[in-house]
Parts: sequence; structure tokens; C-alpha cells
Amino acid sequence: MAQIPKESIEKVLESTDIVDLIGSYIQLKRAGSQFKANCPFHHEKTPSFTVNPVRQTFHCFGCGKGGDAIAFVREYENLPFTDAVRKLANRSGVLIIEEESNPLADQNRRVRGRLLDLHREAAAFFYEQLLRNPDAAHARSYMTSRGFGREMAERWTVGWMPRNPQVFLDWARARKFTGRELVASGLAGMKVDGNPRAGIFVRFNDRLMFSIRNEIGDVIAFSGRKLNEEQQGGKYINSPETPIFKKSNVLFALDRARASMLKQKSALLCEGQIDAICCHEAGIDHAIATCGTACTQQHARILKRYTSSVVLCYDADNAGIAASEKAFRELIAEGLSAKVVEMPAGDDPDTFLKNHGADAFRELIGNAKEYFDFKLSRARARGALDSAAERAILVNDCVSLLAAMSDVVARDYQINLVASYLQTSASALREAIGKLLAQPRRPEFDRSTANEKLAEKIEPTPVHQIVGWLCHLALSSATAQHFLAEQFETLHEANRWLEGIPLLEKILAAAPDPASHAAVNAFLGSLPESDRLALSAQGSVPSEDSIQAAESTLALLSSTVLQRRDSAVKAALKEPGISRERMMELLQEAKEISSLMRGMGQRHEFDDELPPATFREKAPPWKKWVDRKKGA
Ligand code: UTP
Ligand code: MN
Repeated sequence: MAQIPKESIEKVLESTDIVDLIGSYIQLKRAGSQFKANCPFHHEKTPSFTVNPVRQTFHCFGCGKGGDAIAFVREYENLPFTDAVRKLANRSGVLIIEEESNPLADQNRRVRGRLLDLHREAAAFFYEQLLRNPDAAHARSYMTSRGFGREMAERWTVGWMPRNPQVFLDWARARKFTGRELVASGLAGMKVDGNPRAGIFVRFNDRLMFSIRNEIGDVIAFSGRKLNEEQQGGKYINSPETPIFKKSNVLFALDRARASMLKQKSALLCEGQIDAICCHEAGIDHAIATCGTACTQQHARILKRYTSSVVLCYDADNAGIAASEKAFRELIAEGLSAKVVEMPAGDDPDTFLKNHGADAFRELIGNAKEYFDFKLSRARARGALDSAAERAILVNDCVSLLAAMSDVVARDYQINLVASYLQTSASALREAIGKLLAQPRRPEFDRSTANEKLAEKIEPTPVHQIVGWLCHLALSSATAQHFLAEQFETLHEANRWLEGIPLLEKILAAAPDPASHAAVNAFLGSLPESDRLALSAQGSVPSEDSIQAAESTLALLSSTVLQRRDSAVKAALKEPGISRERMMELLQEAKEISSLMRGMGQRHEFDDELPPATFREKAPPWKKWVDRKKGA
């Protein structure tokens, strides 16, 4: 199944520092030998998310998520295992030589790779065209008219798609990109849907081409702006959705803004990509924009990785105001806070910066209003608060927004603000919010995806405590692992009586080297989530005497198995109407069990101290063993 060899996975983990990695997504605070943060996977106020630099693992005591660097990227970026490994490999410069396998996955990867190549090369081609093609003079003067120089075009790989589509098609052919690949990239489309033989058309022509990049800076799509009013189509035409471009989870300029977002603890969300570019060019480098769509839940989740507060900077027209409210709703549902920059009517960040300069714009951002303040002061200005009917509508609106806030502390603050505007009491609002929240959610409002619902339901694999200890021993000591690997029959027998043996057997079969965190983590990463949860629920690992710990724990396992067998036999004997034959069998088994139990008692001294039948201790048996030795 895995297309990436075990060695490469280990190498990737070895060359990744988990503190560095996680620190590039969220803010970590040192806490003793570990690092802490508010968990990025669930909403919380006090940090229960820890990163252990020695073990190179993370764990959240709140939601139970945990694992190694790969697990983190997988969880955070919602990536399949292999993509997460590849991403880390890229980051740390590890070359992965993939194994021949799964032809479909290989095919997908090749397609995506070709698409990325095509986008990268096309962006460079468009840029060259803008700079040098004599037919692009009008595009260059348009750039100049908007105050954009060559450096800006270079920094953002802005370019020009020639008016004559043949120029682009010839270039693509010379670069050995096929018509099929052009269609797959969205740069071209089929003249007749589903019939490539009818020919293809180039989607953008005579447009200024803005490169849309993903979070790590690969060009994944384009947005083409009209150069004159007579041109057909919208002011902007964006690439359609492709295997590498899903617009609901792409934020323009995120690759450039992420560091600044972390540093400034804030993101500036603009409406248009030109606005985001102008902000960056003016040194306001935490600006991002959606790509011709409203802000979605995915966008909110991406932003949440970097910051908990977003400043909305939308146009002051009706469309912009509606878009702000939609964005606000998505952001607060993810527990983010959102303020609104009050743009003078008719301005957007681009025009404002040109007219008033960066300092004035910074001041405007600094004066951003609480969303409700923004919304209700506008309502007041147009007289809506004076009409009982309009006020009732606003109350409803605000109650619905307040109810959507997942941060209840922040909600409380906003309730007071809303109450004072709407001349109502905080308690009346609270009651209305409570009522709304108590309503069963209608399915269409239940926005969590099927996947998340599955994820919520993942329960740890049931693992008996003793088996859990053995798992930990097998993962932490090579001698214990080798010893346990030889106990095939004991474990096989135990499988009928104690939960979790298959997980232990998986560990023994994979035999990751306990001396290497990378190997252990790579193995853990290959397990299903339920197994990982089971392992992280188990307690500590012994620091010494692993072989004795393994022996004594195994003995405990055997005697527990015997106890369970014994009770099962006794219960079976009490069943009414069992046949004579069955009775003889059971009695024979009972005899066998009791002699085995006697034998165990003699062979293992600690059995007297820890009678398995009354086994209640939380501490593993090796703890006693080790403590006793220390005392001696
Ligand atoms: P705006 O109409 O606010 O454009 O659209 P703008 O950013 O100010 O652009 P300029 O300054 O006129 O060049 C904001 C965003 O909406 C999307 C684009 O992503 C744009 O950046 N949009 C707009 C489209 O996708 N298609 C359109 O026809 C218009
Ligand atoms: Mn504009």
C-alpha cells in the first residue's frame, strides 16, 4: 500500500524537527523541557497541546490527538499520509525514491506534477510576454497606469496572455505539454465538452495574468484581468477548479503572508488579489485575499493555523458588506475573532494606499471596529434602530451570529455590545441565543463533512492494560521487543481472552527500532488512528530493566489469561443441560488450568505481590520491580 519506502519515511522524520515544524504553523511556548500551545485541533482557552522535542512527538491532552511530525502535517493540512511525507520531504530537502506500486496513485501524482510544471513554466512565459512582446505594449502601459512597475510584476509573477491563442499553444507544444494537459490545467478548455477532437480553446486571452500560489508558493492557478472594457467576459477570469486548485481552500498571497501573520498575530483579509498585492508592496505583509469566492469554512480553518484574529478589509459597497458578514460568520464559527476596517466609500485597499499612503492605511487598520460595532453603527446611521420592525430584524440577525460564535467568552463580550445598540438586555439576548442553540440543527446547517463525522467517532482500539504495557515495552526497548517476538504462542493464546493482542502483534511484526524515534514514529504513523489513540492512552515506559519488565508483564498476561479461562470454564460448567461429554471436557480443562496456575505461582515470584485475580493496580509491574531495585 505504502508507496514511500520505510527508509525514506524515517529519513524524513530524522531531518525534521517537530518543534520547528509545528512552530511554523502555530505559536509554541516553552514549558520546561516541552513546548505548549492551544490545540489547533479543537477549541480551547488553556493550552493542553504539548510538543516533546526529545521524542519528537506532539500530544493534546484535551482531544487526544497526537503523533509525530507526519501525523501533525496530515492532521493539520488534512493530507493523505504519503502527501504529508512528501511535503515534509520537500521542506527538509530529503529526496524520496518512491517504490513502484499503486498505479492509480502514481498516475495521480504524475498528473499533479505535470500540472505544477505547466503552471510554473506558463507563469514564467506570461511574465516574459508582458516584458518583451511588442504586442503587449498596452498591457505594460496598463501596469504603469496602476502604478505597478517591473519589480512588482517580477515579485508576483504577473504576466500577459497573448491575444492570439496560437502563440500560447505553440509555446505549449514546444514545451511538450499536450492538449489534454492544457485542458486539465484550465488554461484551455474543450470546444465541445467531452469531445477533445472538436479542438480546444485558450481560456484567457489578452489578459493580465496573476499567478495564484498555494501555501508553499507553487503556482496552481491564474486570475486574468481584462485590459480593456470591450473585452468579453468578467473583469477577472479565474482558472476553474483542477486537481491542484480548489478555490474554497486557497488564499491568495498566503505563501508570503504566513510568517507575518504569525508574527503580527493577525491576518488582513482583502476582497481582491490586487488589494492583497498592494498591501504587500506597501509593507503591510499580513494581507491575503480569497480567489473570487466568499470566505469559506476551509479558509477560516487555514487562517486559524496562523492566527486567532482576522481583520476584514472589504469594499464599502453592499456586496462588500454582505461578504464581510459571511466571512465573519465563518470565522467566528471556527473560534476566530474578526474586526472590520471601515473603508471610505468607493475605496479599496489599492486605491486607499495610492491616495493616502501606507501610514494612513495602517491607521485605518488599527482603528478596525468590532464586527457588531461596525454592523450596528451602520444600521444606526441609516435610521434602522428607530424602527421597531427593523430593530427586530437586527436582533434576529445578531442573535444568529452570536449563536454561531464558538468562543463563548468572546460571545459574552459581544452580547453586551449588541445589547447596548439594540436597547435590549444582555439576558434577553442570552435567552434567545440559548433557544436558538437548543434547536436541533437542521441537516443543511450541519456543516461538518462526512469525514469529520467519521473522525469524531474514532474510538481507541480496545486494548487491555497489560497488553498496552507490552506494546509500550515493545516500542521502547529492543531487548523487550525481541523477547516478545518469540512469545508467539503465548500471545496467540491470549488473543482469545484479552483485547489488543493484534495491535501488539503489529508492533512485533513491523519491529521498528526503539532506539530510533524516527523509526518508531514512522511506524506509529502507519497505524490507523484508532490504534494510535489506544497507544497514546497507555501509560509510561520503563526506563531500565526492560527485559525483566517484559518477562514479568508477560507472566502477568499469562496468569490473567488463565484467570479468564478459569472463569469461563466454571461458568460453562454451571450452564443447565450440558452434555456428559462436554462436562468431561470442561473438567479436564479446569484441571489443566489449575495446574498451570500453580506452576505460574511458583515460577514468578511477583505473582504473590500482585495477584492477577485482584489485579487493580494502575502502575505497571515493572514499576514495582524497578522501584524495589532502586531501594535495594
Ligand atoms: P473587485 O471588483 O473588487 O476587483 O473584485 P478589484 O480587486 O478591485 O480589482 P481591480 O482593482 O478593479 O483590478 C474583487 C475580487 O473578486 C474577484 C477577483 O478575485 C477580484 O480580485 N472577481 C471580480 C472575479 O473573480 N471576477 C470578476 O469579474 C470580478
Ligand atoms: Mn481595486
